Amino acid sequence: MSMTLDGEVAVITGGASGVGFGIAQEFAAHGARVVLTDLDRADLDRAVAQIDGPCTGIVADVTDPVAMDRALREAKSEYGRLDAVVANAGIGAHAPLGHITEDQFTRTFDVNVKGVLFTVQPALPLMPDGGSIVVIGSTASVQPPAGMSLYGGSKAAVRCLVRAWIQDIKGSGIRINVLSPGAVDTPSLRRAAEQAQGAEAVVPLVRAMGEGNPTGRIADPREIGKAAVFLASDAASFVTGVEFFVDGGVAQV
Ligand SMILES: NC(=O)c1ccc[n+]([C@@H]2O[C@H](COP(=O)([O-])OP(=O)(O)OC[C@H]3O[C@@H](n4cnc5c(N)ncnc54)[C@H](O)[C@@H]3O)[C@@H](O)[C@H]2O)c1
Repeated sequence: MSMTLDGEVAVITGGASGVGFGIAQEFAAHGARVVLTDLDRADLDRAVAQIDGPCTGIVADVTDPVAMDRALREAKSEYGRLDAVVANAGIGAHAPLGHITEDQFTRTFDVNVKGVLFTVQPALPLMPDGGSIVVIGSTASVQPPAGMSLYGGSKAAVRCLVRAWIQDIKGSGIRINVLSPGAVDTPSLRRAAEQAQGAEAVVPLVRAMGEGNPTGRIADPREIGKAAVFLASDAASFVTGVEFFVDGGVAQV
């Protein structure tokens, strides 16, 4: 079983922070050359500077199919190949039924569903037999918290897309899987907690999330990265179409 990504090239969308950055760190640690895409040049430059190994940042909004097509081609032409793509960029806003706006609906599905489609579709012709695509889902696909129906619905949608896509690409040798984390300790998670309940509530809230998990804690972004390395690597050569929960067991109980 080989968990190395030596010499491989991976594109990670939304790679400048949080889960995507943790994935980028683990991909680099396992030998991959990584291309991060995100919205802001300065954020990308900061992230690239912290990756130990060959790394490039490309500004590209996942909701813009032309920009994504260009970014994927640029990544391949810079490093000569494209072995793995992680469709990680995603957003989620608190939107309880009765208060959901059209803008919240459009924005959530644009980034989380349209963005995944127009990351995966243009990537496929650039990838070799043996390539791997990892779509970052969420436990919200099966356990959407109150107020998170749009987010959960968008994650359930990409999980369903992947079921069909693995049939559409039969014979290509490319695998597509969904990696669904539970709560991950990222700046955005802490920001969301602060916005919802104030600065003093952040530490108790994160602790409470951990206490509700069978492991007694929430994940570190690099733990999601390690699972993504597995799915991208030859160790997962017969794994395709699954929703791989990396959640400390929280969605299993
Ligand atoms: N943090 C968690 O607890 C958690 C749990 C389960 C799933 N996830 C999933 O992990 C992924 C990353 O989440 P995170 O917590 O790291 O969030 P984050 O906000 O820290 O990181 C997301 C990154 O994506 C970028 N991004 C946002 N919209 C974009 C767009 N249109 N085009 C390109 N880049 C864009 C942001 O600039 C940011 O750098 C998401 O798909 C999210 O749903 C997160």
